[in-house]
Amino acid sequence: MQPTVNMTPPLRQKAAVVGENGTAVLAEVNVPKVGPGQILVKVIAAAQNPSDWRTAKGVQATGAVLGLDYAGVVEEIGPDVPVGLRYVGERVCGFVKGGVGPTGAFSEYLVGSAQLGVIPIPVGWPFEDAAQIGVAALTAIQALWEAHKDLPTPLAPTTTPLPILVYGGSSAVGFYTVQFAKLSGLRVLVTASPRNFELLKEYGADELFDYKDPQVSQKIKAATGGKLKHAVDMISEAGSGNIIAEAFGEEGGHIGQILIYPSPQENVTVKFTLAYDLLGEDFETPRPFKATPEYREHSEKVVKLLAEILALGKVKPMPKLILPKGLASVQDGFDYMTSGKVSAQKITYRITDTPGVSA
Ligand SMILES: NC(=O)c1ccc[n+]([C@@H]2O[C@H](COP(=O)([O-])OP(=O)(O)OC[C@H]3O[C@@H](n4cnc5c(N)ncnc54)[C@H](OP(=O)(O)O)[C@@H]3O)[C@@H](O)[C@H]2O)c1
Repeated sequence: MQPTVNMTPPLRQKAAVVGENGTAVLAEVNVPKVGPGQILVKVIAAAQNPSDWRTAKGVQATGAVLGLDYAGVVEEIGPDVPVGLRYVGERVCGFVKGGVGPTGAFSEYLVGSAQLGVIPIPVGWPFEDAAQIGVAALTAIQALWEAHKDLPTPLAPTTTPLPILVYGGSSAVGFYTVQFAKLSGLRVLVTASPRNFELLKEYGADELFDYKDPQVSQKIKAATGGKLKHAVDMISEAGSGNIIAEAFGEEGGHIGQILIYPSPQENVTVKFTLAYDLLGEDFETPRPFKATPEYREHSEKVVKLLAEILALGKVKPMPKLILPKGLASVQDGFDYMTSGKVSAQKITYRITDTPGVSA
């Protein structure tokens, strides 16, 4: 059943907000007002990222609405949105910078850019699956094609299967990176826990390696004959950079990283990318960023590329774990994630599962 779109949004709503000590609590807050270049979205489902709890704990903006990833329906279009870009009733998904201010994805209504960090929901994807696309898929695009300048895309795949290492393939960003790399014609080597090997093969992994194996680098190096030069590090901590560097051949290689660490070796270069940069706004945390017109233009291209890749109809959602009480379950989701239990699954919330929220 299609969710209903109210022509007049309510003034108040339920949302998961930052509570004491960076916890997540259910609260009643104002529905945000749509501004220039923005849309108001009725959120149907939201998905959790490590950034949600990290921002809650790190910034501690008490009362700020949490949540980055969403899927929902456009309810209102603000001023200065190019005609024809969005329409009321459109099914959209994407992400916003939650946890720092009056709007976020863990709410009944959010405001976000009408153009950046948002795409139409791909055909056939339910809201619960579409909610996971925003951060993970856009970060995958950045790590593959912003951090690396010489890799093919699914729109023009190579017939020469150049090897690429996706370190942390069973993470959310990893699932999308593996799929995008495979659709680009690459030979996709992936690290994960062995319990996720078979699953990752279904998503396009060619060869799998256990990252806890002390010989993992040597095994990857042997499998690629010392010719590996491209890697994307979807974990970017716990020594991942060293494992990757040791898997490269004599000439070294280049790593697209999603948390910052210094180059682990002289002949290894690293490039950090951050999904927030794509939103076209200046910000200070997790590191200062100035949204230049050039980067904004790049962000528009990234969003277009994502929509085009998904429109090929060949990408599938990763498994999800829907927590039972909607926005009232966010703290449980934080606890589950911070205790290291997330493995090849996307924590997802249906907004109407929240006590006191009606369909
Ligand atoms: N730069 C950005 O814009 C950006 C965007 C999104 C995320 N991130 C960061 O990227 C990281 C991943 O985010 P996510 O949402 O994709 O994570 P996630 O889905 O929560 O990651 C869970 C997965 O990580 C794997 N894992 C944990 N430790 C590992 C290790 N040492 N080596 C290899 N795999 C390991 C686990 O694999 P197994 O279960 O198979 O062991 C598990 O499946 C987080 O640190 C996040 O903050 C950055």
